[in-house]
Amino acid sequence: MTQTEKILAMDSRVIHPWEGFGKSVNQRTIISHGDGIYVYDNDGNKLLDGPGGMWCNNVGHGQKRIVDAMTKQAAVLSYVSPWSHPTEVSAQLATKLAEMAPGDLNRVHYTTGGSTAVDSALRFVMFYNNVRGQYDKKHILSRHDAYHGSTYLSASVSGKSRDKNWLDFESELVHFLTSPNPYRMPKNMDEKDFVNHLLRELEETILDIGPNKVAAFIAEPILASGGVIVPPAGYHMGCLQICRQYDVLYISDEVVTGFGRLGHWFASEEVFGIVPDIITTAKGITSSYAPLGAVLISDRLINEVDSLSTNTSIFANGFTYSGHPVACAAALANIEIIQEENLLENARNVGCYMQEKLKSLIDLPIVGDIRGLGLMGCVECVASKDTREPLEADYKIGARIDAHCQSLGLLVRPLINMCVLSPALLISESEVDDMIAILRLGIERATADLCAKQLTPSK
Ligand SMILES: Cc1ncc(COP(=O)(O)O)c(C=O)c1O
Repeated sequence: MTQTEKILAMDSRVIHPWEGFGKSVNQRTIISHGDGIYVYDNDGNKLLDGPGGMWCNNVGHGQKRIVDAMTKQAAVLSYVSPWSHPTEVSAQLATKLAEMAPGDLNRVHYTTGGSTAVDSALRFVMFYNNVRGQYDKKHILSRHDAYHGSTYLSASVSGKSRDKNWLDFESELVHFLTSPNPYRMPKNMDEKDFVNHLLRELEETILDIGPNKVAAFIAEPILASGGVIVPPAGYHMGCLQICRQYDVLYISDEVVTGFGRLGHWFASEEVFGIVPDIITTAKGITSSYAPLGAVLISDRLINEVDSLSTNTSIFANGFTYSGHPVACAAALANIEIIQEENLLENARNVGCYMQEKLKSLIDLPIVGDIRGLGLMGCVECVASKDTREPLEADYKIGARIDAHCQSLGLLVRPLINMCVLSPALLISESEVDDMIAILRLGIERATADLCAKQLTPSK
């Protein structure tokens, strides 16, 4: 048995996220180490990490400064209960986050990752309305194609239909609005009509349920795992205005867009012009060197809760590893690297370049849409460019493209009929050139597979 086969045999005990059952062969690639924007598999093949892990490896692999900060913190103090004892690193990080966050989002509730940040944000909204005596104000509005996580509550507000097949969800209190995907807007509309349509739907939904019952609207600035859906201009601002009008809290889920992916610490205000009531963040906060999440809550909400609370009002939410000192040390070092190496600026510049380069793939016969912003990009494959009908899941086109790209030295993240890219913020223009050249070849080879199987997409 080779070393790789041995590891795969041991790995067969692991139930991975989104594990598919009924398959017998474990064909996953074992990644042994990483350096900058590259990872290396167990056989020594160098692979450009196109998805940056899972949209989370913002400063690249092998950053010694983060490793040293974590080592030092673990040696000095590996853990203390966040219930009773603050630590210097968690307090310092909270101060930094408050400086970086928009508006008066100055209060920080730590979690262990993105799902627990979303879950905690939604539970805070429930707590907030209970303290205000608004016991019926509990309904949550989300969107189709949204992804907010994998706890019961965060999965319940996620709107990717394929994930709904084999599990159970809270459905009484959660309502889904149309995905703000311009590529799939009704044919008779332009983008302005589409925005008006989406805003009307939001307002009518609030009025149907009753504003006294609707607690929050949760939205990723760009729907990431739903396929990098960039809502049309004016959408977020319009949604915020309607939420304000009906006393509905706006939760901006910046688990992916935070910490530089769009060239700013947070995208809500800098990119989309809105200051939400709550921001959830994780992933890039430590560039994936340690699990950490945070809910950033506005002073306004906390002051209101403070003023209405009796000493029996407790926000009974939190985790053993909330604000873990080693994770906070990683986050502080990560933020320093982003600042000192001007990675926000690089993400803005190279992000524009990557979007331009990606657009050049539109001539490929199965590519229907190319979309994205900053260092988030997506290629969507369709059966017909005219009807925009997606290439069905059975074709496994995303996985085929991924397999071809991997043999050529690039990891992409397949999502059914789409491939997404979100490389580390330090990527250069020439590395983008390499990435897009490989992606082109990967799509061409995957198209040839379909043709060989006589599944040729019509034009
Ligand atoms: C927008 C968004 N929110 C929440 C999550 C959940 O984060 P985690 O996987 O860290 O729990 C994700 C994960 O991809 C995400 O993309």
